[in-house]
Amino acid sequence: MTTARTSDLWWKNAVVYCLDVETFLDWDGDGRGDFQGLTERVDYLAGMGVSCIWLMPFYPSPDKNDGYDISDYYALNPRLGSLGDFVAFMRTARDRGMRVIVDLVVNHTSDQHPWFRASRSSRDNAFRDFYVWVDKPPRQKKADLVFPDAEDGIWTYDEKTDQWYLHHFYSHQPDLNISNPVVRDEIAKLVGFWLELGVDGFRVDAVPFLIETGDVSLDPHTILRNLRSFISRRRGDSMMLGEVNLPYGELRQFFGGAGGDELHMNFDFILMQRMYLALARQDATPIREALSARPALAEGSQWAVFVRNHDELTLDKLSDGERQEVFEAFGPEPSMQLFGRGLRRRLPPMLDGDGARVRLVYSLLLPLPGTPVLFYGEEIGMGENLDVPGRLSVRTPMQRTDERNGGFSPAPPSRLTRPVAHGRYGPLAVNVAAQRRDPDSLLNWFERVIRRRRETPEFGWGACAVLDTAGDDAVLAHRCDWEEGAVVAVHNLSPEPRHVRVRLGDGKAFDRVIDLLASAEPQPLNGDMLEMKMDGHGFQWVRLQRKEGRTVP
Ligand code: GLC
Repeated sequence: MTTARTSDLWWKNAVVYCLDVETFLDWDGDGRGDFQGLTERVDYLAGMGVSCIWLMPFYPSPDKNDGYDISDYYALNPRLGSLGDFVAFMRTARDRGMRVIVDLVVNHTSDQHPWFRASRSSRDNAFRDFYVWVDKPPRQKKADLVFPDAEDGIWTYDEKTDQWYLHHFYSHQPDLNISNPVVRDEIAKLVGFWLELGVDGFRVDAVPFLIETGDVSLDPHTILRNLRSFISRRRGDSMMLGEVNLPYGELRQFFGGAGGDELHMNFDFILMQRMYLALARQDATPIREALSARPALAEGSQWAVFVRNHDELTLDKLSDGERQEVFEAFGPEPSMQLFGRGLRRRLPPMLDGDGARVRLVYSLLLPLPGTPVLFYGEEIGMGENLDVPGRLSVRTPMQRTDERNGGFSPAPPSRLTRPVAHGRYGPLAVNVAAQRRDPDSLLNWFERVIRRRRETPEFGWGACAVLDTAGDDAVLAHRCDWEEGAVVAVHNLSPEPRHVRVRLGDGKAFDRVIDLLASAEPQPLNGDMLEMKMDGHGFQWVRLQRKEGRTVP
């Protein structure tokens, strides 16, 4: 039901779509995507039912880490457009009823940022304490390293001033000194700037590193709470979505625990990793366990669920043996793996192009308790390009047509930001234009399931429980109840057909079952049992119709 509360906490029932302007659509023909191109395609996203666009970094940057190395927080990378183009995009998105969040990368800057240039110039300049400098680096653990392929430590010696600076990521990304109140004021100022330009919130990069302080008198979570208060004062319905890949026990605190006064949403990295393990085993137990282990959240807090993000598909929270199982199933070649902990592939190639299984996975994602976050190109089943190094293999240009460069850009292929995918998942086989014409395409399927997901707020808002499937481990059945509504999603992870029996516990309160995805006739309930015949890799979402209730279509 739409009430003041549900529309204020808009992120609880959103469908988020992550994209990089640089790889979405090149309008001016220079080989890079730009804001004008994106603005031209806002209707495509609106038509698909996306309700919130997450923009990866678009700021000026030497581009040594795909824009996550920022050299100016108050401008656009001139190759992507001007602030005027940004505002034109924001206006168009708002006109189509969409929210926009942007990446907030303030754990570190680029070493080309004027703050760092000043900071490293002398020990006594005004910006010295914007970064973390020491005479002698503390002992480091291998586990501290985020990029073990490129760095052998998180401290780098700087000859000029004879001290070492901290960088959790690459050495060209020095960490800001969050213990310095002036740095915290600067962060508030830049957050305020983008809010003033109309953004609805932020995807906050690398949060555990960001709030790590060298100052024992400063509680890291106070930093997050203060940032939350600040953005809420500036704009009451703004939202922060955190990148916090930690076990549930620690993660809960990043929401602000029961108070819910830190990050509004956090990605569920644990569930994502357990989902791949479940797919590899064709057994839903790892998902069931993760869902049951999730801590309870405050009403305004929300999980963000995803199948793929822009980084390596990290499997770092699985045991060595479990990770190996997923590697063997979905990325056995060393070239498909990264940092010993993740995969640099997209889903369809991992599933060997099995369309039924691809749909199973996204049918599972959308109703998982939380807010689904899609990565551009998932809606058409794009694959990766393993010729492109590292994490960038999954960040190839969006494939629009079967023409040159997949219709992404009119520039000669040698001038593109990065090469398009080729072969079985290249634009000749996978592109938006062809899928728009085909009513059975993945794209048109996505449009239908997203519409249904948005019409079913129980999945985003409700109290959710994993249901008993009479000992059939391959099947996941979960139910979400919210206000008068009760919905159940059932997914068969095995290739074998199933006769599924799901015990409801309160089945007597309902008299019919309405299929939410197919146009099947409503079915009667068998006492307390929800029974259904399912194909191999089959799925169903159903609404339980209350005996006394109104018929909700
Ligand atoms: C996060 C981003 C990643 C980036 C890193 C450093 O992990 O998701 O893409 O490289 O932070 O900013």
